[in-house]
Amino acid sequence: MKKILITGGAGFIGSHVVRLFVTKYPDYQIYNLDKLTYAGNLANLSDIENLPNYHFIKADIVDGEAMQKLFALHQFDGVIHLAAESHVDRSIANPLEFVMTNVVGTVNLLNAAKFHWKDNFDGKRFYHVSTDEVYGSLGETGYFTEETPYDPHSPYSASKASSDHFVRAYHDTYGLPVVLSNCSNNYGPNQFPEKLIPLFINNIRHNKPLPVYGKGENVRDWLYVVDHARAIDLIFHKGKDGETYNIGGHNEWKNIDLIKVICRIMDEKLGRAPGTSEQLITYVKDRAGHDLRYAIDAGKLQHELGWVPSLQFEEGIRLTIEWYLSNQAWLDEVTSGHYLKYYEEQYVKR
Ligand code: NAD
Ligand code: TYD
Repeated sequence: MKKILITGGAGFIGSHVVRLFVTKYPDYQIYNLDKLTYAGNLANLSDIENLPNYHFIKADIVDGEAMQKLFALHQFDGVIHLAAESHVDRSIANPLEFVMTNVVGTVNLLNAAKFHWKDNFDGKRFYHVSTDEVYGSLGETGYFTEETPYDPHSPYSASKASSDHFVRAYHDTYGLPVVLSNCSNNYGPNQFPEKLIPLFINNIRHNKPLPVYGKGENVRDWLYVVDHARAIDLIFHKGKDGETYNIGGHNEWKNIDLIKVICRIMDEKLGRAPGTSEQLITYVKDRAGHDLRYAIDAGKLQHELGWVPSLQFEEGIRLTIEWYLSNQAWLDEVTSGHYLKYYEEQYVKR
């Protein structure tokens, strides 16, 4: 019997990881720890919340004492750490919140694991989920490998880079059994509509402008979220102690080209004349410090553990658009209240 703590399980990627673990491993006890910030939503897990091996804990990872108490109470065997502040634009507006959750929160979890596992590290594992943004920005060519030096530019990526360093330091200094992964941009169901893809789907639906930063020439490497969850499962169980694995879809898109694909499929789904949604494209002031290009070399994960993405992009983006269109109640709920204030400050008042 394994007791696994998954942090940030009510968020976008976390909810897909929790679902995979709860359904695939009925003999594991899965503890989803989440503060339920604006980005955390228990509705993301309504289909599995009554399964006997699923447990929810509302807690803040910034509260170190609470983390120690939870480890003492539940005696977790493993941690999969996803809880984070995750949106670059919010990190530009409020960096300190990112330091608290992403850096202090991670160190609190490392301390709790170190203290409670110190007598015996056998069978224990601390898995830290990170991002390719820690590597900085690529030019027109090349890929991020696990050896690429860290060069973060946004407060978000700087906070994630810092947390990655702490995780490796706990491995090297105290022998804590850790594994890390750095993944490219994810897309799919349940992503909070402040990120590009769900924001633009929602805006097209409501005939609102599509705010493209700069010239729309920045490039991102998009991976379907369920394929990220599959990679996390594989790395958690088979990854080597102390190692890092890059995860990516080999699926690079210039923002403007990706946006045009979304517009085309949305026109089709909404029964609008071809070209209607593209008219909503509005070029706005560029994001400060906007990284030009991210692209992952996931060769190590493929060769060592046999992972490859399962979905082609056209299929994944169609599934994603269909999910948002048939889950309007979910979108309406998360875009009410505080979201309206965020949207106004980010896009209307600028
Ligand atoms: P998200 O913002 O959708 O979810 C984050 C979750 O963490 C939310 O449920 C939130 O309530 C919870 N949380 C935030 N602060 C907390 C705190 N102090 N204590 C406890 N819970 C807290 O993020 P996501 O996109 O699902 O990303 C999950 C992880 O994956 C993050 O660590 C992120 O850096 C990483 N990542 C994301 C992407 C991406 O494209 N979204 C890509 C690579 C890596
Ligand atoms: P985002 O989804 O915020 O992910 P990240 O910044 O972590 O890569 O943004 C993806 C790309 O889309 C990025 O180059 C910024 C751009 N973008 C826009 O052009 N307009 C927007 O309103 C948003 C949110 C993002």
